[in-house]
Amino acid sequence: MSAPELLLRAHTISRRWGGLIAVDRVSLDLQRGTVHAVIGTNGAGKSTLINLLSGEIAPSSGRVELLGQDVTSWSQPRRARAGLGRSYQRNTIYPSFTVFENCRLAAQARRPRAWAWWQDASKCEASTATAQACVERAGLTDLRQLLAGLLSHGQKRQLEIAMCLATEPDVLLLDEPLAGMGAEETERMLTLLAELKASHATLLVEHDMDAVFRIADCITVMVNGAVIASGTPDFVRNNAQVRVAYLGEH
Ligand SMILES: Nc1ncnc2c1ncn2[C@@H]1O[C@H](COP(=O)(O)OP(=O)(O)OP(=O)(O)O)[C@@H](O)[C@H]1O
Ligand SMILES: [Mg+2]
Repeated sequence: MSAPELLLRAHTISRRWGGLIAVDRVSLDLQRGTVHAVIGTNGAGKSTLINLLSGEIAPSSGRVELLGQDVTSWSQPRRARAGLGRSYQRNTIYPSFTVFENCRLAAQARRPRAWAWWQDASKCEASTATAQACVERAGLTDLRQLLAGLLSHGQKRQLEIAMCLATEPDVLLLDEPLAGMGAEETERMLTLLAELKASHATLLVEHDMDAVFRIADCITVMVNGAVIASGTPDFVRNNAQVRVAYLGEH
């Protein structure tokens, strides 16, 4: 087996909102080939943590490293260009564009000439090829010409992953990709995440515990912004503090 490849590291990052500490000195490693799940009750700070890693918001303290480089002061677009991809808790697709066009827009955002908006988009062959590959990888080939607004909820979440892939990331930060999905859609998404696992470092925020324990290699449990346990699924499942604080046992 090859040595683990550390792609993203959070070093004691915190974020305050006024008097509230939403994320409290969280440290976390993401390695290629692994899914690292972050779980916790509503308001535990999971989405805030993703926003801190992606660069959407700045930490009050602490450091974020991408491929060994300190990126704490980098903007979200700069981090995205360096290989950090993310999906959101709520859909962020363009409903009046087709599935394919949504992916091509995402692909263009990664390209250096994204500002050259007057060029005919279809001439941008690299973006077109990337978009096509991501549509296929996400299992949306048959739907590529459909307006994104007409997709089912599960298909929209698949499209979000495809759009994330179109930015050619090494790291995937996924905020509740299974939320609101039926059983079949959940299975489809889990298959996709399993396929993406080998080539990416994935951070998965998710409330579906069956899914988390199936797919995660490492699980971090947050309560009130802080990590109360982090380790293998077995370690977390058997951790007394986790069982009381999160899994509801007394
Ligand atoms: N922009 C903001 N301004 C002020 N407080 C915020 C802001 N964003 C989040 N918070 C607060 O920070 C805390 C953590 O919120 P966050 O959205 O990170 O939780 P979460 O773990 O993602 O919850 P959920 O499971 O419901 O998505 C909450 O108390 C929330 O109200
Ligand atoms: Mg959230």
